[in-house]
Amino acid sequence: MAVERVQTIAFSSILVDTIPPEFIRSEKEQPALTTCLGCIPQVPTIDFSDPDEGNLTRLIAEASSEWGMFQIVNHGIPSEVITNLQKAGKEFFELPQEEKELYAKPPDSKSIEGYGSKLQKEVEGKKAWVDHLFHNIWPPSAINYQYWPKNPPSYRAVNEEYCKWVQRVGHRLLSLLSLGLGLEKNELKENVGGDELKYLLKINYYPPCPRPDLALGVVAHTDMSSITILVPNEVQGLQVFRDDHWFDVKYIPDALVIHIGDQLEILSNGKYKSVLHRTTVTKEITRMSWPVFLEPPSELAIGPLPKLINEKNPPKYQKKKYCDYVYCKLNKIAQ
Ligand code: OGA
Ligand code: NI
Repeated sequence: MAVERVQTIAFSSILVDTIPPEFIRSEKEQPALTTCLGCIPQVPTIDFSDPDEGNLTRLIAEASSEWGMFQIVNHGIPSEVITNLQKAGKEFFELPQEEKELYAKPPDSKSIEGYGSKLQKEVEGKKAWVDHLFHNIWPPSAINYQYWPKNPPSYRAVNEEYCKWVQRVGHRLLSLLSLGLGLEKNELKENVGGDELKYLLKINYYPPCPRPDLALGVVAHTDMSSITILVPNEVQGLQVFRDDHWFDVKYIPDALVIHIGDQLEILSNGKYKSVLHRTTVTKEITRMSWPVFLEPPSELAIGPLPKLINEKNPPKYQKKKYCDYVYCKLNKIAQ
Protein backbone atom coordinates (compact mmCIF):
# COMPACT_ATOMS: atom_id res chain seq x y z
CA MET A 1 0.00 0.00 0.00
CA ALA A 2 1.26 3.46 -0.83
CA VAL A 3 2.35 5.56 2.13
CA GLU A 4 0.08 8.48 2.79
CA ARG A 5 1.95 11.74 2.76
CA VAL A 6 1.22 14.53 5.23
CA GLN A 7 0.80 16.92 2.31
CA THR A 8 -2.13 14.80 1.04
CA ILE A 9 -3.62 14.43 4.51
CA ALA A 10 -3.33 18.19 5.06
CA PHE A 11 -5.30 18.86 1.91
CA SER A 12 -8.31 16.80 3.05
CA SER A 13 -8.00 17.96 6.70
CA ILE A 14 -8.45 21.57 5.70
CA LEU A 15 -11.78 20.75 4.07
CA VAL A 16 -13.14 19.17 7.26
CA ASP A 17 -11.28 21.50 9.65
CA THR A 18 -9.97 18.66 11.85
CA ILE A 19 -6.93 16.40 11.85
CA PRO A 20 -6.76 12.60 12.10
CA PRO A 21 -6.37 11.40 15.73
CA GLU A 22 -2.88 9.98 15.12
CA PHE A 23 -1.62 13.55 14.70
CA ILE A 24 -3.03 14.76 18.04
CA ARG A 25 -0.17 14.87 20.53
CA SER A 26 -0.55 14.02 24.21
CA GLU A 27 -1.22 16.94 26.55
CA LYS A 28 2.40 16.82 27.65
CA GLU A 29 3.43 17.71 24.11
CA GLN A 30 0.64 19.88 22.67
CA PRO A 31 2.22 23.17 21.68
CA ALA A 32 -0.74 25.24 22.93
CA LEU A 33 -0.24 23.82 26.43
CA THR A 34 3.55 23.66 26.56
CA THR A 35 4.92 26.79 24.89
CA CYS A 36 6.27 29.51 27.15
CA LEU A 37 4.54 32.62 25.79
CA GLY A 38 6.04 36.05 26.28
CA CYS A 39 9.33 34.46 27.28
CA ILE A 40 12.21 36.87 27.05
CA PRO A 41 15.30 34.70 26.64
CA GLN A 42 16.29 34.15 23.03
CA VAL A 43 18.95 31.96 21.52
CA PRO A 44 21.95 34.22 20.88
CA THR A 45 22.40 35.93 17.52
CA ILE A 46 26.06 36.17 16.53
CA ASP A 47 27.67 38.38 13.89
CA PHE A 48 29.82 35.94 11.91
CA SER A 49 31.74 38.78 10.27
CA ASP A 50 33.22 39.97 13.59
CA PRO A 51 36.90 40.57 12.79
CA ASP A 52 37.84 39.87 16.43
CA GLU A 53 38.30 36.10 16.28
CA GLY A 54 38.80 35.81 20.03
CA ASN A 55 35.46 37.48 20.67
CA LEU A 56 33.68 35.37 18.07
CA THR A 57 35.15 32.17 19.54
CA ARG A 58 33.99 33.15 23.01
CA LEU A 59 30.44 34.01 21.87
CA ILE A 60 30.09 30.76 19.94
CA ALA A 61 31.51 28.64 22.76
CA GLU A 62 29.18 30.29 25.29
CA ALA A 63 26.11 29.84 23.11
CA SER A 64 27.07 26.20 22.45
CA SER A 65 27.48 25.47 26.15
CA GLU A 66 24.42 27.34 27.36
CA TRP A 67 21.88 26.80 24.57
CA GLY A 68 23.37 24.35 22.08
CA MET A 69 21.86 26.64 19.44
CA PHE A 70 22.51 30.09 18.01
CA GLN A 71 21.77 32.10 14.90
CA ILE A 72 24.46 33.64 12.75
CA VAL A 73 24.08 36.77 10.65
CA ASN A 74 26.56 38.12 8.07
CA HIS A 75 27.60 34.54 7.36
CA GLY A 76 28.79 35.40 3.87
CA ILE A 77 26.38 33.24 1.83
CA PRO A 78 24.86 35.54 -0.82
CA SER A 79 21.13 35.88 -0.28
CA GLU A 80 20.36 34.85 -3.87
CA VAL A 81 22.10 31.50 -3.29
CA ILE A 82 19.71 30.89 -0.40
CA THR A 83 16.65 32.20 -2.23
CA ASN A 84 17.42 29.89 -5.17
CA LEU A 85 17.80 26.89 -2.88
CA GLN A 86 14.46 27.68 -1.25
CA LYS A 87 12.70 28.26 -4.54
CA ALA A 88 13.89 24.97 -6.05
CA GLY A 89 12.91 22.99 -2.92
CA LYS A 90 9.49 24.60 -2.83
CA GLU A 91 8.91 23.84 -6.50
CA PHE A 92 9.78 20.20 -5.91
CA PHE A 93 7.25 19.86 -3.07
CA GLU A 94 4.61 21.56 -5.21
CA LEU A 95 4.94 18.93 -7.96
CA PRO A 96 2.12 16.39 -8.37
CA GLN A 97 2.33 13.62 -5.79
CA GLU A 98 3.22 10.91 -8.35
CA GLU A 99 6.24 12.86 -9.42
CA LYS A 100 7.53 13.27 -5.88
CA GLU A 101 7.02 9.55 -5.25
CA LEU A 102 9.71 8.84 -7.88
CA TYR A 103 12.18 9.92 -5.21
CA ALA A 104 10.59 7.95 -2.34
CA LYS A 105 12.99 6.24 0.03
CA PRO A 106 12.73 2.52 -0.81
CA PRO A 107 11.09 0.66 2.11
CA ASP A 108 14.04 -1.73 2.50
CA SER A 109 16.74 0.93 2.11
CA LYS A 110 19.35 1.18 4.86
CA SER A 111 20.14 4.76 3.98
CA ILE A 112 18.07 7.71 5.11
CA GLU A 113 18.08 9.27 1.62
CA GLY A 114 14.90 9.91 -0.31
CA TYR A 115 11.43 11.44 -0.04
CA GLY A 116 9.48 10.34 3.01
CA SER A 117 7.23 11.12 5.93
CA LYS A 118 8.54 9.12 8.88
CA LEU A 119 11.97 9.15 10.40
CA GLN A 120 12.11 7.70 13.89
CA LYS A 121 10.16 4.81 15.24
CA GLU A 122 6.87 6.46 16.19
CA VAL A 123 6.04 6.58 19.88
CA GLU A 124 2.48 5.33 20.59
CA GLY A 125 1.75 5.41 16.86
CA LYS A 126 1.70 9.21 16.85
CA LYS A 127 2.60 11.00 13.62
CA ALA A 128 4.44 14.20 12.82
CA TRP A 129 2.93 16.89 10.57
CA VAL A 130 5.81 16.97 8.09
CA ASP A 131 7.15 15.38 4.89
CA HIS A 132 10.83 15.46 3.97
CA LEU A 133 13.46 14.84 1.33
CA PHE A 134 16.97 13.76 2.32
CA HIS A 135 20.05 13.54 0.12
CA ASN A 136 23.78 13.88 0.60
CA ILE A 137 25.41 16.90 -0.99
CA TRP A 138 29.07 16.26 -0.07
CA PRO A 139 31.57 14.59 -0.55
CA PRO A 140 31.06 13.57 -4.19
CA SER A 141 31.58 9.87 -3.32
CA ALA A 142 28.52 10.05 -0.99
CA ILE A 143 26.17 11.57 -3.56
CA ASN A 144 23.34 9.50 -5.06
CA TYR A 145 21.83 11.64 -7.76
CA GLN A 146 18.82 9.35 -7.95
CA TYR A 147 17.49 11.24 -4.90
CA TRP A 148 18.09 14.70 -6.36
CA PRO A 149 14.93 15.97 -8.06
CA LYS A 150 15.22 16.48 -11.82
CA ASN A 151 12.38 18.92 -11.57
CA PRO A 152 12.71 21.89 -11.33
CA PRO A 153 15.61 21.66 -13.79
CA SER A 154 17.63 24.18 -11.73
CA TYR A 155 17.56 21.89 -8.68
CA ARG A 156 21.01 20.37 -9.13
CA ALA A 157 22.86 23.57 -9.95
CA VAL A 158 21.37 25.58 -7.08
CA ASN A 159 22.06 22.80 -4.59
CA GLU A 160 25.65 22.47 -5.80
CA GLU A 161 26.11 26.19 -5.41
CA TYR A 162 24.65 26.20 -1.89
CA CYS A 163 26.87 23.22 -1.04
CA LYS A 164 30.02 25.21 -1.83
CA TRP A 165 28.96 28.03 0.49
CA VAL A 166 27.62 25.93 3.31
CA GLN A 167 30.96 24.11 3.48
CA ARG A 168 32.74 27.40 4.01
CA VAL A 169 30.44 28.20 6.92
CA GLY A 170 30.78 24.64 8.24
CA HIS A 171 34.60 24.72 8.23
CA ARG A 172 34.70 28.09 9.90
CA LEU A 173 32.24 27.01 12.57
CA LEU A 174 34.18 23.84 13.29
CA SER A 175 37.42 25.78 13.62
CA LEU A 176 35.86 28.35 15.98
CA LEU A 177 34.23 25.58 18.01
CA SER A 178 37.62 23.84 18.13
CA LEU A 179 39.34 26.98 19.44
CA GLY A 180 36.50 27.33 21.95
CA LEU A 181 37.50 23.97 23.42
CA GLY A 182 41.12 25.09 23.74
CA LEU A 183 42.16 22.90 20.79
CA GLU A 184 43.99 23.75 17.58
CA LYS A 185 41.83 25.19 14.81
CA ASN A 186 41.61 22.05 12.70
CA GLU A 187 41.40 19.44 15.46
CA LEU A 188 37.64 19.22 15.71
CA LYS A 189 37.20 18.87 11.97
CA GLU A 190 39.81 16.11 11.86
CA ASN A 191 37.93 14.28 14.60
CA VAL A 192 34.60 14.36 12.79
CA GLY A 193 36.06 12.84 9.65
CA GLY A 194 38.25 15.53 8.05
CA ASP A 195 37.68 15.52 4.30
CA GLU A 196 35.27 12.61 4.66
CA LEU A 197 32.84 14.67 6.75
CA LYS A 198 29.44 14.24 5.11
CA TYR A 199 26.97 17.00 4.37
CA LEU A 200 23.43 15.63 4.40
CA LEU A 201 20.67 17.97 3.24
CA LYS A 202 17.11 17.59 4.46
CA ILE A 203 14.16 19.59 3.24
CA ASN A 204 11.26 19.74 5.70
CA TYR A 205 7.82 20.53 4.30
CA TYR A 206 5.19 21.40 6.93
CA PRO A 207 1.81 21.89 5.21
CA PRO A 208 -0.88 24.13 6.75
CA CYS A 209 -2.61 22.37 9.65
CA PRO A 210 -6.19 23.06 10.82
CA ARG A 211 -5.20 22.32 14.45
CA PRO A 212 -1.72 23.75 15.06
CA ASP A 213 -2.55 23.78 18.79
CA LEU A 214 -2.67 19.97 18.89
CA ALA A 215 -0.09 18.77 16.33
CA LEU A 216 3.68 19.04 16.05
CA GLY A 217 5.99 19.15 13.04
CA VAL A 218 9.20 17.38 14.00
CA VAL A 219 8.79 16.17 17.58
CA ALA A 220 11.28 16.91 20.35
CA HIS A 221 14.72 15.55 19.44
CA THR A 222 18.41 16.33 19.36
CA ASP A 223 20.27 16.04 16.04
CA MET A 224 22.68 13.12 15.66
CA SER A 225 25.13 15.19 13.62
CA SER A 226 28.22 17.08 14.75
CA ILE A 227 26.58 20.38 13.88
CA THR A 228 23.53 21.30 11.80
CA ILE A 229 23.26 24.45 9.68
CA LEU A 230 19.64 25.33 8.95
CA VAL A 231 17.95 27.73 6.55
CA PRO A 232 14.29 28.35 7.45
CA ASN A 233 11.63 30.02 5.33
CA GLU A 234 9.95 33.09 6.80
CA VAL A 235 7.38 31.15 8.83
CA GLN A 236 7.96 30.95 12.58
CA GLY A 237 7.98 27.41 13.99
CA LEU A 238 11.27 26.27 15.53
CA GLN A 239 11.26 25.86 19.30
CA VAL A 240 14.09 25.15 21.71
CA PHE A 241 13.95 23.55 25.16
CA ARG A 242 15.80 25.18 27.99
CA ASP A 243 15.30 25.30 31.78
CA ASP A 244 12.20 23.12 31.52
CA HIS A 245 10.44 25.36 28.99
CA TRP A 246 9.82 25.46 25.25
CA PHE A 247 10.79 28.78 23.67
CA ASP A 248 10.10 30.07 20.16
CA VAL A 249 13.29 30.72 18.18
CA LYS A 250 12.65 34.07 16.53
CA TYR A 251 12.79 34.09 12.76
CA ILE A 252 15.55 36.48 11.69
CA PRO A 253 15.69 37.25 7.96
CA ASP A 254 18.92 35.97 6.35
CA ALA A 255 20.17 34.25 9.51
CA LEU A 256 21.33 30.64 9.64
CA VAL A 257 20.30 28.58 12.66
CA ILE A 258 23.17 26.51 14.06
CA HIS A 259 22.45 23.43 16.18
CA ILE A 260 25.04 21.57 18.23
CA GLY A 261 24.40 17.87 17.57
CA ASP A 262 25.04 14.74 19.63
CA GLN A 263 28.50 14.01 18.18
CA LEU A 264 29.85 17.37 19.29
CA GLU A 265 28.40 16.96 22.77
CA ILE A 266 30.19 13.60 22.93
CA LEU A 267 33.53 14.85 21.53
CA SER A 268 33.50 17.83 23.92
CA ASN A 269 32.57 15.49 26.80
CA GLY A 270 29.47 17.55 27.50
CA LYS A 271 30.96 21.06 27.33
CA TYR A 272 28.86 21.80 24.27
CA LYS A 273 25.20 20.77 24.57
CA SER A 274 23.25 18.95 21.92
CA VAL A 275 20.08 21.01 21.78
CA LEU A 276 16.57 19.61 22.31
CA HIS A 277 14.27 21.18 19.76
CA ARG A 278 10.94 20.66 17.94
CA THR A 279 8.75 22.48 15.45
CA THR A 280 5.21 23.76 15.53
CA VAL A 281 2.97 24.18 12.49
CA THR A 282 0.58 26.90 11.38
CA LYS A 283 -3.00 27.07 10.23
CA GLU A 284 -2.70 28.81 6.92
CA ILE A 285 0.81 28.78 5.64
CA THR A 286 3.40 26.22 4.68
CA ARG A 287 6.61 26.23 6.66
CA MET A 288 9.77 24.82 5.09
CA SER A 289 13.33 24.43 6.29
CA TRP A 290 16.64 23.22 4.85
CA PRO A 291 18.90 21.76 7.54
CA VAL A 292 22.32 20.43 6.51
CA PHE A 293 23.66 17.82 8.94
CA LEU A 294 27.46 17.59 9.13
CA GLU A 295 27.91 13.89 9.80
CA PRO A 296 30.98 11.79 10.54
CA PRO A 297 31.67 8.88 8.14
CA SER A 298 29.65 5.89 9.34
CA GLU A 299 32.65 3.75 10.35
CA LEU A 300 34.33 6.48 12.39
CA ALA A 301 34.19 5.86 16.15
CA ILE A 302 33.36 8.99 18.15
CA GLY A 303 34.04 9.43 21.85
CA PRO A 304 35.20 12.18 24.21
CA LEU A 305 38.45 13.71 22.93
CA PRO A 306 41.38 12.40 25.03
CA LYS A 307 42.73 15.95 25.45
CA LEU A 308 39.50 17.01 27.12
CA ILE A 309 39.34 14.30 29.75
CA ASN A 310 41.29 13.84 32.95
CA GLU A 311 40.75 12.62 36.50
CA LYS A 312 38.52 15.55 37.38
CA ASN A 313 36.62 15.30 34.12
CA PRO A 314 36.19 11.60 33.32
CA PRO A 315 34.54 10.52 30.05
CA LYS A 316 30.77 10.85 30.21
CA TYR A 317 30.03 9.04 26.95
CA GLN A 318 30.85 5.72 25.36
CA LYS A 319 32.95 5.67 22.21
CA LYS A 320 31.08 4.13 19.32
CA LYS A 321 30.92 4.02 15.55
CA TYR A 322 28.65 6.66 14.07
CA CYS A 323 26.56 4.05 12.22
CA ASP A 324 25.90 2.21 15.49
CA TYR A 325 24.95 5.46 17.16
CA VAL A 326 22.45 6.22 14.39
CA TYR A 327 20.96 2.73 14.53
CA CYS A 328 20.34 2.98 18.29
CA LYS A 329 18.92 6.46 18.03
CA LEU A 330 16.46 5.73 15.22
CA ASN A 331 15.29 2.54 16.91
CA LYS A 332 15.14 4.16 20.35
CA ILE A 333 17.71 1.79 21.88
CA ALA A 334 19.72 3.20 24.82
CA GLN A 335 23.19 4.40 23.76
C1 OGA B 1 15.18 18.67 11.87
C2 OGA B 1 14.74 19.92 12.55
C3 OGA B 1 13.87 22.13 12.46
C4 OGA B 1 13.14 23.07 11.58
O1 OGA B 1 14.72 18.44 10.75
O2 OGA B 1 16.00 17.94 12.48
O3 OGA B 1 14.99 20.04 13.73
O4 OGA B 1 13.19 24.27 11.85
N1 OGA B 1 14.12 20.88 11.86
O5 OGA B 1 12.49 22.64 10.63
NI1 NI C 1 16.60 18.76 14.31
